Amino acid sequence: MANSPTGDSMVQRVVRVLESFDSGRVSQTASEIARRSQLPTSTAHRIVGELVETGLLERDESGAVRIGLRLWELTTRGSRALGLRQLAMPFMAEVQAVVREHTQLAVLEEHEVLFIERLSARNAGANVTRIAGRLPLHASSSGLVLLAFAPPELQEAVLSGPLREVSQETITDPRRLRSKLAEVRRLGFASAPGFIEQVSSGIAVPVRDGSGTVIAALSVVLPRERAGDQEAVLVLKRAASRITEAIAATGFLSR
Ligand code: PHB
Repeated sequence: MANSPTGDSMVQRVVRVLESFDSGRVSQTASEIARRSQLPTSTAHRIVGELVETGLLERDESGAVRIGLRLWELTTRGSRALGLRQLAMPFMAEVQAVVREHTQLAVLEEHEVLFIERLSARNAGANVTRIAGRLPLHASSSGLVLLAFAPPELQEAVLSGPLREVSQETITDPRRLRSKLAEVRRLGFASAPGFIEQVSSGIAVPVRDGSGTVIAALSVVLPRERAGDQEAVLVLKRAASRITEAIAATGFLSR
């Protein structure tokens, strides 16, 4: 693959173009992409043009481009997340029928929580989670679960900081975080009242594969006054066990 004067390959440059999009920046001109991805304007224009031709980017009437449906189709179809999401969905719906707020499924990705599904009631309360959005491990209930059961090296890397203060109640002291993770392992769930925003509370449980390895976190986001909702903990734990049974029965993760 041909390298640019700065030494990055064509694929790396294409990835930089694609990474310049996020949920707050869904549509951009080629010049904006050039600036944000730190590519020469001519290179950015050429890559954008080729990506539009192949359908991976789509151009709107104003000439700006956005991620194409074709790219979504290809990535979703081949994704490891899809099988887990499809398998978990009926059990998530059961949790949602009881809690009637937000129910979500997340996995660990590059030292962060990546949300792969979310169900929300029409009048549900605040929730910063977005599908395909990320949150810090130490600041969310899902992240605390994924971190508590993660390999020790990852735990130590996160504990060594920095632990960003997302809200005034986020745990930013490594010693407190260490004991919180021990509590999560002991109780089998994480509660994160106000850790992300003062008005809401996350509760999450681990989802294991057939061999017992934690592969995901199943969580609910509730209004703050429901932070101690024990029924939510029970329905989450029951749903997580059923997901594990379904994984073991289909063996889909080992395919
Ligand atoms: C959480 O998982 O702890 C969480 C996520 C999103 C929110 C609040 C809490 O908005």
